[in-house]
Amino acid sequence: MKSFARHRRLRQNESIRSMVREHHLTTRDFIYPIFVVEGSGIRQEVPSMPGVFHYSLDRLNEEVDEVVESGIPSIILFGVPESKDACGSAAHAENGIVQQAIRQVKEHHPSLYVMADTCLCQYTDHGHCGVVAEGEVLNDESLSILARTAVSQAAAGADMIAPSNMMDGFVTAIRHALDEAGYENTPILSYAVKYASAFYGPFRDAAHSSPQFGDRRTYQMDPANGREALLEAASDLDEGADMLMVKPGLAYMDILRRLKERFDVPLAAYNVSGEYAMVKAAAEKGWIDEKGVVLELLTGMKRAGADLILTYHAKDAARWLNGEE
Ligand code: PBG
Repeated sequence: MKSFARHRRLRQNESIRSMVREHHLTTRDFIYPIFVVEGSGIRQEVPSMPGVFHYSLDRLNEEVDEVVESGIPSIILFGVPESKDACGSAAHAENGIVQQAIRQVKEHHPSLYVMADTCLCQYTDHGHCGVVAEGEVLNDESLSILARTAVSQAAAGADMIAPSNMMDGFVTAIRHALDEAGYENTPILSYAVKYASAFYGPFRDAAHSSPQFGDRRTYQMDPANGREALLEAASDLDEGADMLMVKPGLAYMDILRRLKERFDVPLAAYNVSGEYAMVKAAAEKGWIDEKGVVLELLTGMKRAGADLILTYHAKDAARWLNGEE
């Protein structure tokens, strides 16, 4: 009989398995997304995202306290404004919902690392990520508004700017504006590789940010393209991005891996709303073991190359990693 390798030797018990384990998920890997709304007394669950809530500012601290207690080091804030207009003015208002939320959170928990998502789709009445003329999303005209938005977020105290709009040149526009305003030490996490994905559906319900006409395929990437992701990543790094993101995560683990091999900056994966909703729905029906599935998915993203993971599962995963049920 041909001799064969005994791979099972190193799988015999948990002691040896844990000693040879290549990747470890920890609570420090997580960035937890939080939705803030105007008004008061609001803590309202997003129907397609069980366990995820809209918070008004007066209820926000409860949520943030929980995040901090569980050992999650960072949050990313998404604002859902009451009023919208054609050019997303509420995105850069000094007293905009996100600007207020950032100030409040930084005051309450100075060491919680607060990221700001820089985009216009929640703030425009047409729901696109840039300004629109004659049915088209204009690139260069959108850049100054995005830059202004990023500066207003930095001024409110955001630790990191995470632009997700997918206009060309947004990183350089934002970098220059931040530098000019004196925020040269505020890093940029670019959503460099963002696909035009059906997995964003629940987020758009939550953020009220569905495009009112057309879709996002003239600026977000074609899911069929892999090499193009490397071009997007390279140009964003060239423009001054400090870290890169791949979004969504699950259907794009190969892209995470390719970026990891090519670029030496920290890499984030966004485990998006539709991925969360699928797991929650199947778990609710009793068809999968939620804890097992979530920890496996998140570990898979780390193995694929993610240094950090934006995930709505963060609080649950942190609990499980901390040994609670
Ligand atoms: C848009 C933005 C989107 C998400 C975060 N910021 C997607 C979009 O509507 O195109 C999606 C996140 C998720 O699905 O969890 N600027």
